[in-house]
Amino acid sequence: MKVQGQPTRTIRLAEDGWTVEIIDQTRLPHDFVTCRLETLEDAAHAIRAMLVRGAPLIGATAAYGLALALRADPADENLGRAAETLLATRPTAVNLRWAVAEMRACVAALPAGERADAAYARAAGICEEDVAICRAIGEQGLGLIRDAWAAKGREGAVNLLTHCNAGWLATVDWGTALAPIYLAHDAGVPVHVWVDETRPRNQGAGLTAWELGQHGVPHTVIADNVGGHLMQHGLVDLCITGTDRTTATGDVCNKIGTYLKALAARDNGVPFYVALPGPTIDWTVSDGIGEIPIEQRDGRELSEVSGRTLEGAIATVRITPEASPVANYAFDVTPARLVGGLITERGICAASREGLLSLYPERGAAQS
Ligand code: MRU
Repeated sequence: MKVQGQPTRTIRLAEDGWTVEIIDQTRLPHDFVTCRLETLEDAAHAIRAMLVRGAPLIGATAAYGLALALRADPADENLGRAAETLLATRPTAVNLRWAVAEMRACVAALPAGERADAAYARAAGICEEDVAICRAIGEQGLGLIRDAWAAKGREGAVNLLTHCNAGWLATVDWGTALAPIYLAHDAGVPVHVWVDETRPRNQGAGLTAWELGQHGVPHTVIADNVGGHLMQHGLVDLCITGTDRTTATGDVCNKIGTYLKALAARDNGVPFYVALPGPTIDWTVSDGIGEIPIEQRDGRELSEVSGRTLEGAIATVRITPEASPVANYAFDVTPARLVGGLITERGICAASREGLLSLYPERGAAQS
């Protein structure tokens, strides 16, 4: 996607051929700043402190983190330590575990001297695959938006609602939930996106609004609690969100608040779709509510708010009483029964084991 008209990706190898350039997403939407990862610790910090975030981008960054670690020391012990460090950064998005496993499998049998080059090549491959997958998700989901427009008699815009940021900033390029929206916009289908602000970190207000704006997609930022009201008044045609982990039975774990949007959508007959790349499916988990670890983050993300003052400085202010405890759950699980369909790179399916296996039949064979 483009930033000020320039094609840009969220992660790439720098010109020196070994450091890794990322966009520091903690600085958006006020400043567009890139920075370089030179060590495994840099990569782990970038994921932990959410300079990079979004399930697919976390996976891609972890892959390059292992490449950086193997460049420094290709021994087995270092590979194991590096993998553990990365796996401990964020617990919910399963792409992290997937990417670390891919990287380990790629280098395990190689002599030490060949490991770093192979790791860099596989990390680049993971990034390219992510771009292709997200583009394919966009193509699969485009039909839903076209259908919604046709159902409106091709009058006005298709009103979509999304939560958090599942756009190109959450992936290497294109995004998952936003990919069909970008393609629809580019194809001339009029779209308008209701952007949930997504407290506490405001990935909707800060990131989704920013990237939609860069691409010229009409959008409106709303407080997190507005969606139900909009749906009651016929102002949402379609909801599309991302997911950090999808169970083998079609439950989806995504940014906190997604579940409430799915409930409101069900109550109002609004189609609720979730977009996901194959690596976001955790085939080992069947019960999302019982089995997926839900990240709890620093309470200051909730008790404090950062932004740009009217004078132009970035400032952080406290919004809760000093003495009030806070709880900062980062994700929730939307049960499969509330999900109208899963948009994958291979097609759209029911949110169920049967639905997923119809698109990923090799997983049925693997488990039987
Ligand atoms: O905490 P974040 O910002 O990493 O959460 C991101 C999300 O919840 C996204 O919706 C999810 O990762 C899907 S990204 C394509």
